[in-house]
Amino acid sequence: MVNRTETAGKKAAFGLNEEGIEAKAFPCDVSRKEDVETMVEAVEETLGPVDILVNSAGINIRKKALEFDPAEWNQILDINLKGTFLTCQTVGRRMVERRSGHIVNISSVAAFIGLTDRAPYCASKGGVSQLTKVLAIEWATSGVTVNAIGPGYVRTPLITELLKDSAFQKTIDTQVPMKRIAETEDLQGILLVLCSKAGAYITGQTIYVDGGWSIW
Ligand SMILES: NC(=O)c1ccc[n+]([C@@H]2O[C@H](COP(=O)([O-])OP(=O)(O)OC[C@H]3O[C@@H](n4cnc5c(N)ncnc54)[C@H](O)[C@@H]3O)[C@@H](O)[C@H]2O)c1
Repeated sequence: MVNRTETAGKKAAFGLNEEGIEAKAFPCDVSRKEDVETMVEAVEETLGPVDILVNSAGINIRKKALEFDPAEWNQILDINLKGTFLTCQTVGRRMVERRSGHIVNISSVAAFIGLTDRAPYCASKGGVSQLTKVLAIEWATSGVTVNAIGPGYVRTPLITELLKDSAFQKTIDTQVPMKRIAETEDLQGILLVLCSKAGAYITGQTIYVDGGWSIW
């Protein structure tokens, strides 16, 4: 697993080890090409070839489009979109050489619908879904599938502040047909399909796991 800081990575790996799952931490800022290259080399040297890459690093800042500073725009796009491109490019190059691999990019329902107060986030996730299509086409005959998952709200630290807001459940009731947010377990099934033989003929897709939000 890859985390921005060594401490966070070690903590997450330790948690998985406690559950009997073998995990190692590799620190990396995905928006920095040198970091990504060093990390991928270290991963393959320690664990062997990467068969599955899941790009999940992402951030969000909420405010009106008129109030965004260009530095904030760059920060979000650098991590969410450029970071996804850099890891796809670095790991994908090796997968293409080996003619085998599955890449899953964590996009968002925000790639498909417009959400107020999230201009750079929506733009970055729209970019992730489009990037996914292009890589899928370029690597389609090289044994590498590239797909994306587009979650609605998922109970993670990213939405801690929203969960504290008493009006939040009302938003969910009016926007999400299933009237609930996702638990991380809700994403597991499709992730397994996209990373296994069951999904061998699926590439370039963004699969929305959003309780029906994007169909309204
Ligand atoms: N939680 C939701 O409601 C939700 C909904 C749709 C999409 N997503 C997407 O799911 C993905 C995972 O988000 P989450 O909900 O688990 O949030 P999270 O904040 O819990 O996790 C995001 C992770 O990205 C890491 N990260 C941030 N910048 C990084 C960098 N420069 N280099 C390496 N790692 C970095 C953080 O350290 C953190 O571990 C994100 O791409 C997010 O946009 C989340």
